Amino acid sequence: MCGIVGYIGDKSPEKFLIDGLKKLEYRGYDSSGIALKNNDKIQIIKSTGRISELEEKINETETIPCTLGIAHTRWATHGEANERNAHPHKVGRVTIVHNGIIENSNEIKNRLVNEGIVFKSETDTEVACAVMNELYSNDPIETIENSIKQLKGSYAFGILLEDSDKLYAVRKDSPLIVGIGKNENYIASDINAISDYTNEYILLEDNEIAEITKDSIKIYKDGQEIEKKIETENKTIETANKGTYEHFMLKEIMEEPIVLQRTLNKYKYSKENIMDLTKYDEIHIVACGSALYAGMIGKELLEEKANIKCFTECASEYRYKKVIYDRKTLVILVSQSGETADTIAAMRKAHEEGIDTLAIVNVKLSTIAREAKYHMFIEAGPEISVATTKAYILQVALLSILALEAAHKKGLEPNYEQYLQELEKLPNKLRKVLNDKDIFQKVGEELKEDKSAFFIGRGIDYAICKEGSLKLKEVSYTHSDAYEAGELKHGTISLIEEGIPVFAIITKDNIKEKTESNVIEVASRKAKIYTITNDEAITNHHFKYTVEKISDYFQPILVVPALQLIGYYTAYSRGLEIDHPRNLAKSVTVE
Ligand code: M6R
Repeated sequence: MCGIVGYIGDKSPEKFLIDGLKKLEYRGYDSSGIALKNNDKIQIIKSTGRISELEEKINETETIPCTLGIAHTRWATHGEANERNAHPHKVGRVTIVHNGIIENSNEIKNRLVNEGIVFKSETDTEVACAVMNELYSNDPIETIENSIKQLKGSYAFGILLEDSDKLYAVRKDSPLIVGIGKNENYIASDINAISDYTNEYILLEDNEIAEITKDSIKIYKDGQEIEKKIETENKTIETANKGTYEHFMLKEIMEEPIVLQRTLNKYKYSKENIMDLTKYDEIHIVACGSALYAGMIGKELLEEKANIKCFTECASEYRYKKVIYDRKTLVILVSQSGETADTIAAMRKAHEEGIDTLAIVNVKLSTIAREAKYHMFIEAGPEISVATTKAYILQVALLSILALEAAHKKGLEPNYEQYLQELEKLPNKLRKVLNDKDIFQKVGEELKEDKSAFFIGRGIDYAICKEGSLKLKEVSYTHSDAYEAGELKHGTISLIEEGIPVFAIITKDNIKEKTESNVIEVASRKAKIYTITNDEAITNHHFKYTVEKISDYFQPILVVPALQLIGYYTAYSRGLEIDHPRNLAKSVTVE
């Protein structure tokens, strides 16, 4: 999704701005731009494509001498990805960069067009900029405050005003921080953008306005200056660099044992941090994409092992549907970024109904982490690849631990101690699967020319299929679908033809035979069967990989990494931009 950085200090801002934009590349974007300010002179440089293209353009341009600038990566929402629509936008005396969506922009635009304003772009951002220009007064805080009162929707703005040599920022429902430097200060929509320059920052809350010079930061709310806490980001050992790996995705998959160990240590020694789910009659796990698929595994375990009624729902549906909260309900929000717009909306819906919420999140200062009633953090460190891998594994691990603890508390888990010991050994068992990466590379190479693939499984294996299929499709652009194995013959089997890859996940004892017979149905139609199982006795049709058999609670943690690697190597064999798949954004902060 879009990204913002801004600089004010005593140096030329170009290097900082470009560095910051590069750090935001992982979020997904299709154009970028910067605005430099010197007194009343504004210079804007924009480009479509990669940040390197913008950098080249800046290098070829005679830039104005200055010490103040803002920059942006745009992920197109209003209007196509071209230079006209790229940010920054300038209307009269106001120049802005913007993350989010202004929902009433059409209405405002119609009014302004009638008043004779001519718009150059199709963006909602230019409309917001025109509003600020219309309400421009010689009091910058008043200008911004009056302007945001006109805007509906979500926004994080970096703002330059003609008559001021300060940097301004404001946000609502879209993250923005003010970084604190020495003789310089920054704004950023993501701590990663500035983490090479500072680890201290102020987190802006909704409608707080920052007025920033090189050595002062003032925050205003409702016209009054307010005190704000300075936050510190503690760096984890994993850095936001690729190290020796060609792609973040592979690096992050290989980090899974380390981050799993770290997360287990955290909850092993402080059991009080593991929320007690047994006091709820019903649990709703609400999330998007992979986080939802992690939730599906949680649901299977909570129902089967801990006997707690549980539903999963994608947040974009949950937020708008009628939800009947007639029992003591907990809503669990699962999110790596903690900034996914639909998941935030689902959380707020639950809060409006007085329902408890638990966030399972990676980014500690994110909106979901801050607003949920309870939270449990996964300790994934920075996840840069757009396709989530290590964060997903940790989401599954935490949900499994929650289910195990709930089952134990209810006296439903006779093997509790044994499973705790198994948990201790899990990182090493996972490492063994990752050590077989060459095997998965060969599978990826085999899939190079395939246009389509299917994943089949039952129960928890079906939940695994959903994630395996998403990984393959999002990074390798292979059309791929996951089906409940028994459902295939109700229509989809008509797509099975000679040579089509079908991945069968078979780990669940009580339904293995059933899935095996579904595999035979597709094998007899000459599909190429890739089986991942925990059972040596399962038939090998074309390819079989057997992981160690462990308890149902943790089995997915040995299976999904194999599928992540297959997705990765398929994309690799096609020479794709694995860390930034087309059209995708790391955190989806708009609806
Ligand atoms: O940050 P979140 O966990 O809330 O993100 C949810 C999804 O957008 C995310 O998992 C998405 O599906 C990824 N592209 C999957 O790799």
